[in-house]
Amino acid sequence: MDQHPRKSEDVLADLKQRRDRDPDIHGGRLFGLVYPSGRDDIEQLIHDVYEQFLFHNALNPLRFPELNVIEREVIEMTATLLHRTPTERHAGSVTSGGTESILMSMLVNRERARAKGVTEPEILAPASAHPAYAKAGHYFGMKLVQIPLDENFRADVAAARSLVTANTAVIVANAYSYPHGAMDPIEDLAQLAAEWKIACHVDACIGGFVLPFMEEMGIDVPLWDFRVPGVTEISVDIHKYGFAPKGSSVILHRDDDWAWLQTYFYSEWGSGLYATPAIAGARAAAPVVASWAIMKYLGVEGFTEITAGLIEATTRLLSAIETIDGIDVVGKPIGPLVALSSETLDLFGVGDELEKRGWHVNRNSDPRGLHLMLSPVHAPLIEELIADIRESVASHSASTSDEVRYS
Ligand SMILES: Cc1ncc(COP(=O)(O)O)c(C=O)c1O
Repeated sequence: MDQHPRKSEDVLADLKQRRDRDPDIHGGRLFGLVYPSGRDDIEQLIHDVYEQFLFHNALNPLRFPELNVIEREVIEMTATLLHRTPTERHAGSVTSGGTESILMSMLVNRERARAKGVTEPEILAPASAHPAYAKAGHYFGMKLVQIPLDENFRADVAAARSLVTANTAVIVANAYSYPHGAMDPIEDLAQLAAEWKIACHVDACIGGFVLPFMEEMGIDVPLWDFRVPGVTEISVDIHKYGFAPKGSSVILHRDDDWAWLQTYFYSEWGSGLYATPAIAGARAAAPVVASWAIMKYLGVEGFTEITAGLIEATTRLLSAIETIDGIDVVGKPIGPLVALSSETLDLFGVGDELEKRGWHVNRNSDPRGLHLMLSPVHAPLIEELIADIRESVASHSASTSDEVRYS
Protein backbone atom coordinates (compact mmCIF):
# COMPACT_ATOMS: atom_id res chain seq x y z
CA MET A 1 0.00 0.00 0.00
CA ASP A 2 1.17 3.56 -0.68
CA GLN A 3 2.15 5.62 2.35
CA HIS A 4 0.09 8.65 1.30
CA PRO A 5 -3.60 8.85 0.40
CA ARG A 6 -4.63 9.64 -3.18
CA LYS A 7 -7.64 11.56 -4.47
CA SER A 8 -10.60 9.35 -5.31
CA GLU A 9 -10.72 10.83 -8.87
CA ASP A 10 -7.13 9.67 -9.37
CA VAL A 11 -7.83 6.21 -8.04
CA LEU A 12 -10.90 5.87 -10.26
CA ALA A 13 -9.11 7.20 -13.34
CA ASP A 14 -6.31 4.72 -12.74
CA LEU A 15 -8.80 1.86 -12.45
CA LYS A 16 -10.72 2.93 -15.54
CA GLN A 17 -7.53 2.93 -17.57
CA ARG A 18 -6.71 -0.55 -16.37
CA ARG A 19 -10.23 -1.83 -16.98
CA ASP A 20 -10.19 -0.43 -20.50
CA ARG A 21 -7.09 -2.46 -21.32
CA ASP A 22 -9.17 -5.63 -20.77
CA PRO A 23 -11.98 -6.67 -23.14
CA ASP A 24 -15.21 -4.67 -22.89
CA ILE A 25 -17.73 -6.91 -21.13
CA HIS A 26 -20.70 -5.20 -22.77
CA GLY A 27 -19.27 -5.18 -26.29
CA GLY A 28 -20.57 -8.60 -27.36
CA ARG A 29 -17.12 -9.72 -28.45
CA LEU A 30 -16.58 -12.13 -25.56
CA PHE A 31 -18.15 -15.58 -25.30
CA GLY A 32 -18.80 -17.11 -21.86
CA LEU A 33 -17.27 -15.68 -18.67
CA VAL A 34 -19.79 -12.83 -18.81
CA TYR A 35 -23.42 -13.02 -19.88
CA PRO A 36 -24.59 -9.51 -20.71
CA SER A 37 -28.34 -9.24 -21.04
CA GLY A 38 -27.93 -6.37 -23.50
CA ARG A 39 -30.68 -4.57 -21.60
CA ASP A 40 -30.03 -1.24 -19.88
CA ASP A 41 -33.19 -1.57 -17.77
CA ILE A 42 -32.00 -4.87 -16.25
CA GLU A 43 -28.55 -3.45 -15.57
CA GLN A 44 -30.04 -0.33 -13.98
CA LEU A 45 -32.15 -2.50 -11.70
CA ILE A 46 -29.02 -4.40 -10.64
CA HIS A 47 -27.17 -1.14 -9.94
CA ASP A 48 -30.09 0.05 -7.79
CA VAL A 49 -30.17 -3.21 -5.84
CA TYR A 50 -26.42 -3.07 -5.28
CA GLU A 51 -26.71 0.46 -3.96
CA GLN A 52 -29.15 -0.78 -1.32
CA PHE A 53 -27.36 -4.00 -0.40
CA LEU A 54 -23.71 -3.37 -1.21
CA PHE A 55 -22.39 -3.98 2.30
CA HIS A 56 -24.91 -6.52 3.57
CA ASN A 57 -23.68 -9.85 4.82
CA ALA A 58 -25.76 -12.95 4.12
CA LEU A 59 -23.93 -14.96 6.78
CA ASN A 60 -26.37 -14.68 9.67
CA PRO A 61 -30.05 -15.34 8.93
CA LEU A 62 -31.00 -14.51 12.52
CA ARG A 63 -29.58 -11.00 12.32
CA PHE A 64 -31.02 -10.26 8.88
CA PRO A 65 -34.24 -12.28 8.81
CA GLU A 66 -35.68 -10.41 5.83
CA LEU A 67 -32.56 -11.11 3.80
CA ASN A 68 -32.94 -14.74 4.73
CA VAL A 69 -36.51 -14.77 3.43
CA ILE A 70 -35.36 -13.15 0.16
CA GLU A 71 -32.73 -15.86 -0.22
CA ARG A 72 -35.26 -18.61 0.45
CA GLU A 73 -37.55 -17.06 -2.15
CA VAL A 74 -34.70 -17.17 -4.70
CA ILE A 75 -34.30 -20.89 -3.93
CA GLU A 76 -38.05 -21.49 -4.15
CA MET A 77 -38.49 -19.56 -7.40
CA THR A 78 -35.64 -21.52 -8.95
CA ALA A 79 -36.97 -24.82 -7.60
CA THR A 80 -40.44 -24.08 -8.97
CA LEU A 81 -38.98 -23.24 -12.38
CA LEU A 82 -37.34 -26.67 -12.32
CA HIS A 83 -40.56 -28.39 -11.23
CA ARG A 84 -39.63 -29.39 -7.71
CA THR A 85 -42.75 -29.84 -5.65
CA PRO A 86 -42.84 -27.38 -2.74
CA THR A 87 -41.04 -28.43 0.42
CA GLU A 88 -41.29 -26.70 3.73
CA ARG A 89 -37.60 -26.47 4.38
CA HIS A 90 -36.43 -24.98 1.08
CA ALA A 91 -33.89 -27.72 0.47
CA GLY A 92 -30.98 -26.06 -1.17
CA SER A 93 -28.92 -22.95 -0.91
CA VAL A 94 -27.60 -20.00 -2.83
CA THR A 95 -23.87 -20.30 -3.42
CA SER A 96 -21.16 -18.18 -4.99
CA GLY A 97 -21.30 -20.00 -8.32
CA GLY A 98 -21.60 -23.26 -10.19
CA THR A 99 -18.41 -24.65 -8.72
CA GLU A 100 -19.57 -24.16 -5.13
CA SER A 101 -23.02 -25.61 -5.96
CA ILE A 102 -21.35 -28.69 -7.45
CA LEU A 103 -18.95 -29.01 -4.52
CA MET A 104 -21.86 -28.93 -2.08
CA SER A 105 -23.78 -31.55 -4.00
CA MET A 106 -20.76 -33.86 -4.23
CA LEU A 107 -20.16 -33.44 -0.49
CA VAL A 108 -23.75 -34.44 0.23
CA ASN A 109 -23.36 -37.43 -2.06
CA ARG A 110 -20.16 -38.48 -0.35
CA GLU A 111 -21.96 -38.36 3.00
CA ARG A 112 -24.88 -40.32 1.55
CA ALA A 113 -22.48 -42.99 0.32
CA ARG A 114 -20.65 -43.08 3.64
CA ALA A 115 -23.95 -43.58 5.43
CA LYS A 116 -24.34 -46.75 3.35
CA GLY A 117 -20.86 -47.95 4.31
CA VAL A 118 -19.04 -46.91 1.11
CA THR A 119 -15.49 -45.99 2.06
CA GLU A 120 -14.14 -45.09 -1.41
CA PRO A 121 -16.98 -43.13 -3.02
CA GLU A 122 -16.88 -42.39 -6.75
CA ILE A 123 -18.36 -39.68 -8.95
CA LEU A 124 -19.46 -41.09 -12.32
CA ALA A 125 -19.57 -38.15 -14.72
CA PRO A 126 -19.57 -37.63 -18.49
CA ALA A 127 -16.13 -36.91 -19.97
CA SER A 128 -17.59 -33.49 -20.84
CA ALA A 129 -18.45 -32.63 -17.22
CA HIS A 130 -17.12 -29.37 -15.83
CA PRO A 131 -13.77 -29.49 -13.94
CA ALA A 132 -15.71 -28.70 -10.75
CA TYR A 133 -16.48 -32.44 -10.42
CA ALA A 134 -12.77 -33.30 -10.54
CA LYS A 135 -12.19 -30.52 -8.02
CA ALA A 136 -14.86 -31.99 -5.74
CA GLY A 137 -13.16 -35.36 -6.03
CA HIS A 138 -9.85 -33.76 -5.13
CA TYR A 139 -11.26 -31.83 -2.16
CA PHE A 140 -13.48 -34.54 -0.74
CA GLY A 141 -11.50 -37.69 -1.45
CA MET A 142 -13.80 -39.05 -4.16
CA LYS A 143 -12.61 -40.75 -7.33
CA LEU A 144 -13.82 -39.28 -10.63
CA VAL A 145 -14.78 -41.93 -13.17
CA GLN A 146 -15.43 -40.57 -16.67
CA ILE A 147 -18.29 -41.79 -18.86
CA PRO A 148 -17.19 -41.82 -22.53
CA LEU A 149 -19.26 -39.76 -24.96
CA ASP A 150 -21.29 -41.07 -27.89
CA GLU A 151 -21.07 -39.79 -31.49
CA ASN A 152 -23.15 -36.73 -30.52
CA PHE A 153 -20.96 -35.94 -27.52
CA ARG A 154 -23.60 -37.09 -25.03
CA ALA A 155 -22.81 -39.43 -22.14
CA ASP A 156 -22.92 -43.00 -23.42
CA VAL A 157 -25.52 -44.75 -21.25
CA ALA A 158 -24.33 -48.29 -22.04
CA ALA A 159 -20.82 -47.30 -21.01
CA ALA A 160 -22.18 -45.66 -17.85
CA ARG A 161 -24.00 -48.88 -17.02
CA SER A 162 -20.75 -50.82 -17.26
CA LEU A 163 -18.92 -48.32 -15.04
CA VAL A 164 -21.32 -48.17 -12.07
CA THR A 165 -20.06 -50.08 -9.08
CA ALA A 166 -21.01 -50.43 -5.44
CA ASN A 167 -18.68 -47.46 -4.83
CA THR A 168 -20.55 -45.08 -7.14
CA ALA A 169 -22.05 -42.32 -5.02
CA VAL A 170 -23.55 -40.22 -7.79
CA ILE A 171 -24.11 -40.16 -11.54
CA VAL A 172 -23.74 -36.75 -13.16
CA ALA A 173 -25.58 -35.55 -16.27
CA ASN A 174 -25.24 -32.27 -18.17
CA ALA A 175 -28.18 -30.07 -19.10
CA TYR A 176 -26.28 -29.06 -21.21
CA SER A 177 -22.50 -29.51 -21.43
CA TYR A 178 -19.98 -26.69 -21.62
CA PRO A 179 -17.62 -28.13 -24.27
CA HIS A 180 -20.26 -29.17 -26.84
CA GLY A 181 -23.63 -27.78 -25.73
CA ALA A 182 -24.87 -31.38 -25.63
CA MET A 183 -27.84 -32.52 -23.59
CA ASP A 184 -27.04 -35.82 -21.90
CA PRO A 185 -29.68 -38.60 -21.88
CA ILE A 186 -30.84 -37.56 -18.46
CA GLU A 187 -33.88 -39.82 -18.12
CA ASP A 188 -31.71 -42.89 -18.84
CA LEU A 189 -28.89 -41.83 -16.52
CA ALA A 190 -31.35 -40.99 -13.73
CA GLN A 191 -33.02 -44.36 -14.18
CA LEU A 192 -29.65 -46.07 -13.91
CA ALA A 193 -28.97 -44.13 -10.71
CA ALA A 194 -32.39 -45.09 -9.31
CA GLU A 195 -31.73 -48.77 -10.08
CA TRP A 196 -28.58 -48.56 -7.95
CA LYS A 197 -30.34 -46.38 -5.34
CA ILE A 198 -27.73 -43.68 -5.77
CA ALA A 199 -27.92 -39.97 -6.54
CA CYS A 200 -28.26 -38.35 -9.95
CA HIS A 201 -26.94 -34.81 -10.11
CA VAL A 202 -27.96 -32.70 -13.12
CA ASP A 203 -25.55 -29.90 -13.95
CA ALA A 204 -27.81 -27.17 -15.30
CA CYS A 205 -25.34 -24.41 -14.50
CA ILE A 206 -25.68 -23.20 -18.09
CA GLY A 207 -29.05 -24.64 -19.09
CA GLY A 208 -31.04 -23.93 -15.93
CA PHE A 209 -32.13 -20.47 -17.04
CA VAL A 210 -32.35 -21.33 -20.76
CA LEU A 211 -34.11 -24.69 -21.14
CA PRO A 212 -37.28 -23.83 -19.15
CA PHE A 213 -37.85 -20.79 -21.36
CA MET A 214 -37.16 -22.74 -24.56
CA GLU A 215 -39.88 -25.09 -23.39
CA GLU A 216 -42.10 -22.08 -22.75
CA MET A 217 -41.46 -21.06 -26.41
CA GLY A 218 -42.85 -24.43 -27.50
CA ILE A 219 -39.48 -26.00 -28.34
CA ASP A 220 -39.30 -29.73 -27.74
CA VAL A 221 -36.84 -30.08 -24.84
CA PRO A 222 -36.26 -33.59 -23.42
CA LEU A 223 -37.20 -33.82 -19.75
CA TRP A 224 -34.22 -33.11 -17.54
CA ASP A 225 -35.36 -31.47 -14.28
CA PHE A 226 -37.18 -32.70 -11.14
CA ARG A 227 -39.95 -34.11 -13.35
CA VAL A 228 -37.49 -36.93 -14.07
CA PRO A 229 -37.73 -39.56 -11.35
CA GLY A 230 -34.29 -40.31 -9.99
CA VAL A 231 -32.89 -36.79 -10.38
CA THR A 232 -31.84 -35.89 -6.85
CA GLU A 233 -29.80 -32.67 -7.20
CA ILE A 234 -29.62 -29.83 -9.70
CA SER A 235 -27.03 -27.06 -9.87
CA VAL A 236 -28.19 -23.93 -11.68
CA ASP A 237 -26.37 -20.64 -12.07
CA ILE A 238 -28.25 -17.37 -11.88
CA HIS A 239 -25.04 -15.52 -12.70
CA LYS A 240 -25.00 -17.02 -16.20
CA TYR A 241 -28.29 -16.88 -18.14
CA GLY A 242 -30.15 -15.47 -15.12
CA PHE A 243 -28.08 -12.30 -15.81
CA ALA A 244 -27.17 -11.68 -12.16
CA PRO A 245 -23.70 -10.34 -11.39
CA LYS A 246 -21.15 -12.98 -10.42
CA GLY A 247 -21.76 -14.69 -7.10
CA SER A 248 -25.13 -16.36 -7.60
CA SER A 249 -25.94 -20.00 -8.14
CA VAL A 250 -28.41 -22.39 -6.55
CA ILE A 251 -27.96 -25.99 -5.50
CA LEU A 252 -31.28 -27.77 -5.16
CA HIS A 253 -31.96 -31.11 -3.49
CA ARG A 254 -35.08 -33.11 -4.07
CA ASP A 255 -34.85 -34.52 -0.58
CA ASP A 256 -34.81 -32.28 2.49
CA ASP A 257 -32.97 -34.73 4.71
CA TRP A 258 -29.93 -35.01 2.48
CA ALA A 259 -29.72 -31.25 1.97
CA TRP A 260 -28.74 -30.81 5.59
CA LEU A 261 -25.57 -32.78 5.01
CA GLN A 262 -24.06 -29.73 3.31
CA THR A 263 -24.64 -27.53 6.35
CA TYR A 264 -21.76 -27.21 8.76
CA PHE A 265 -22.38 -26.57 12.47
CA TYR A 266 -19.75 -25.68 15.05
CA SER A 267 -19.94 -24.25 18.55
CA GLU A 268 -16.69 -25.15 20.37
CA TRP A 269 -14.91 -21.81 20.01
CA GLY A 270 -16.23 -19.45 22.64
CA SER A 271 -18.70 -17.49 20.53
CA GLY A 272 -21.64 -19.81 20.20
CA LEU A 273 -23.22 -21.72 17.37
CA TYR A 274 -21.85 -21.03 13.91
CA ALA A 275 -23.71 -22.61 11.01
CA THR A 276 -23.21 -22.21 7.26
CA PRO A 277 -25.06 -23.97 4.44
CA ALA A 278 -22.10 -23.92 2.04
CA ILE A 279 -18.38 -23.13 1.90
CA ALA A 280 -18.43 -19.38 2.48
CA GLY A 281 -18.67 -17.74 5.87
CA ALA A 282 -19.37 -14.05 5.40
CA ARG A 283 -20.79 -13.58 1.93
CA ALA A 284 -22.16 -10.83 -0.25
CA ALA A 285 -25.91 -10.41 -0.05
CA ALA A 286 -26.12 -8.23 -3.15
CA PRO A 287 -25.88 -11.03 -5.77
CA VAL A 288 -28.66 -12.91 -3.95
CA VAL A 289 -30.93 -9.88 -3.79
CA ALA A 290 -30.12 -8.95 -7.40
CA SER A 291 -31.15 -12.47 -8.42
CA TRP A 292 -34.46 -12.02 -6.59
CA ALA A 293 -35.01 -8.63 -8.24
CA ILE A 294 -34.24 -9.88 -11.78
CA MET A 295 -36.61 -12.83 -11.41
CA LYS A 296 -39.40 -10.61 -10.11
CA TYR A 297 -38.75 -7.97 -12.77
CA LEU A 298 -38.59 -10.28 -15.79
CA GLY A 299 -40.88 -13.09 -14.74
CA VAL A 300 -41.22 -16.14 -16.99
CA GLU A 301 -42.48 -13.92 -19.82
CA GLY A 302 -39.46 -11.61 -19.71
CA PHE A 303 -36.98 -14.47 -19.64
CA THR A 304 -38.83 -16.23 -22.47
CA GLU A 305 -38.66 -13.12 -24.63
CA ILE A 306 -34.90 -12.85 -24.06
CA THR A 307 -34.42 -16.57 -24.73
CA ALA A 308 -36.39 -16.28 -27.99
CA GLY A 309 -33.90 -13.65 -29.22
CA LEU A 310 -30.99 -15.86 -28.22
CA ILE A 311 -32.38 -18.91 -29.96
CA GLU A 312 -33.11 -16.92 -33.11
CA ALA A 313 -29.51 -15.65 -33.19
CA THR A 314 -28.20 -19.19 -32.61
CA THR A 315 -30.37 -20.56 -35.42
CA ARG A 316 -29.04 -17.92 -37.80
CA LEU A 317 -25.48 -18.77 -36.83
CA LEU A 318 -26.07 -22.51 -37.27
CA SER A 319 -27.67 -22.04 -40.70
CA ALA A 320 -24.78 -19.84 -41.82
CA ILE A 321 -22.19 -22.37 -40.61
CA GLU A 322 -23.87 -25.05 -42.71
CA THR A 323 -23.09 -23.00 -45.81
CA ILE A 324 -19.37 -22.61 -45.02
CA ASP A 325 -17.27 -25.37 -46.56
CA GLY A 326 -15.04 -27.27 -44.19
CA ILE A 327 -16.66 -26.29 -40.87
CA ASP A 328 -18.90 -28.64 -38.92
CA VAL A 329 -21.08 -28.04 -35.91
CA VAL A 330 -20.07 -30.44 -33.15
CA GLY A 331 -22.89 -32.84 -32.20
CA LYS A 332 -26.41 -31.49 -31.80
CA PRO A 333 -26.29 -28.44 -29.53
CA ILE A 334 -29.61 -27.81 -27.82
CA GLY A 335 -29.17 -24.19 -26.78
CA PRO A 336 -27.17 -21.06 -27.54
CA LEU A 337 -23.79 -22.77 -27.44
CA VAL A 338 -22.06 -23.75 -30.66
CA ALA A 339 -18.84 -25.75 -30.90
CA LEU A 340 -17.17 -25.97 -34.30
CA SER A 341 -14.74 -28.52 -35.70
CA SER A 342 -13.14 -29.18 -39.04
CA GLU A 343 -11.41 -32.01 -40.86
CA THR A 344 -9.80 -29.72 -43.40
CA LEU A 345 -9.29 -26.28 -41.84
CA ASP A 346 -7.04 -25.11 -39.03
CA LEU A 347 -9.80 -23.64 -36.87
CA PHE A 348 -7.32 -22.27 -34.36
CA GLY A 349 -5.92 -20.25 -37.29
CA VAL A 350 -9.48 -19.11 -38.04
CA GLY A 351 -9.75 -18.18 -34.35
CA ASP A 352 -6.55 -16.09 -34.64
CA GLU A 353 -8.08 -14.29 -37.61
CA LEU A 354 -11.31 -13.65 -35.67
CA GLU A 355 -9.21 -12.34 -32.80
CA LYS A 356 -7.70 -9.75 -35.19
CA ARG A 357 -11.26 -8.66 -35.96
CA GLY A 358 -11.92 -8.18 -32.26
CA TRP A 359 -13.77 -11.43 -31.43
CA HIS A 360 -12.46 -13.30 -28.37
CA VAL A 361 -13.48 -16.78 -29.46
CA ASN A 362 -12.68 -19.72 -27.17
CA ARG A 363 -10.97 -22.89 -28.38
CA ASN A 364 -11.85 -26.53 -27.77
CA SER A 365 -9.32 -29.36 -27.65
CA ASP A 366 -11.67 -32.28 -28.29
CA PRO A 367 -12.67 -32.09 -30.99
CA ARG A 368 -10.16 -29.42 -31.88
CA GLY A 369 -12.04 -26.28 -32.84
CA LEU A 370 -13.84 -23.15 -31.71
CA HIS A 371 -16.38 -22.59 -28.95
CA LEU A 372 -19.06 -19.89 -29.06
CA MET A 373 -21.35 -19.35 -26.09
CA LEU A 374 -23.93 -16.75 -27.15
CA SER A 375 -25.45 -14.14 -24.85
CA PRO A 376 -28.37 -11.84 -25.70
CA VAL A 377 -25.85 -9.10 -26.43
CA HIS A 378 -24.64 -11.11 -29.45
CA ALA A 379 -28.04 -11.09 -31.19
CA PRO A 380 -27.69 -7.69 -32.91
CA LEU A 381 -24.11 -8.58 -33.91
CA ILE A 382 -24.81 -12.00 -35.35
CA GLU A 383 -24.62 -11.03 -39.05
CA GLU A 384 -21.32 -9.24 -38.41
CA LEU A 385 -20.00 -12.35 -36.63
CA ILE A 386 -21.10 -14.60 -39.50
CA ALA A 387 -19.46 -12.31 -42.07
CA ASP A 388 -16.24 -12.27 -40.03
CA ILE A 389 -16.25 -16.08 -39.71
CA ARG A 390 -16.60 -16.34 -43.50
CA GLU A 391 -13.76 -13.88 -44.08
CA SER A 392 -11.57 -15.51 -41.44
CA VAL A 393 -12.06 -18.92 -43.04
CA ALA A 394 -11.11 -17.44 -46.41
CA SER A 395 -8.04 -15.58 -45.18
CA HIS A 396 -6.63 -17.54 -42.23
CA SER A 397 -3.19 -19.00 -42.01
CA ALA A 398 -1.69 -21.63 -39.69
CA SER A 399 -2.49 -21.05 -36.04
CA THR A 400 0.01 -19.12 -33.97
CA SER A 401 -0.63 -21.19 -30.86
CA ASP A 402 -1.96 -24.60 -29.95
CA GLU A 403 -2.87 -23.53 -26.47
CA VAL A 404 -6.39 -24.34 -25.26
CA ARG A 405 -7.49 -22.74 -22.05
CA TYR A 406 -10.89 -22.53 -20.42
CA SER A 407 -11.63 -18.84 -20.74
C1 LIG B 1 -21.74 -26.76 -17.23
C2 LIG B 1 -21.03 -25.94 -16.21
N1 LIG B 1 -21.04 -26.36 -14.92
C3 LIG B 1 -20.42 -25.66 -13.96
C4 LIG B 1 -19.75 -24.50 -14.22
C5 LIG B 1 -19.02 -23.78 -13.12
O1 LIG B 1 -19.59 -22.55 -12.84
P1 LIG B 1 -18.78 -21.37 -12.11
O2 LIG B 1 -17.76 -20.91 -13.09
O3 LIG B 1 -19.87 -20.39 -11.83
O4 LIG B 1 -18.17 -21.91 -10.89
C6 LIG B 1 -19.72 -24.03 -15.54
C7 LIG B 1 -19.01 -22.78 -15.88
O5 LIG B 1 -18.89 -22.42 -17.03
C8 LIG B 1 -20.36 -24.76 -16.56
O6 LIG B 1 -20.34 -24.36 -17.83
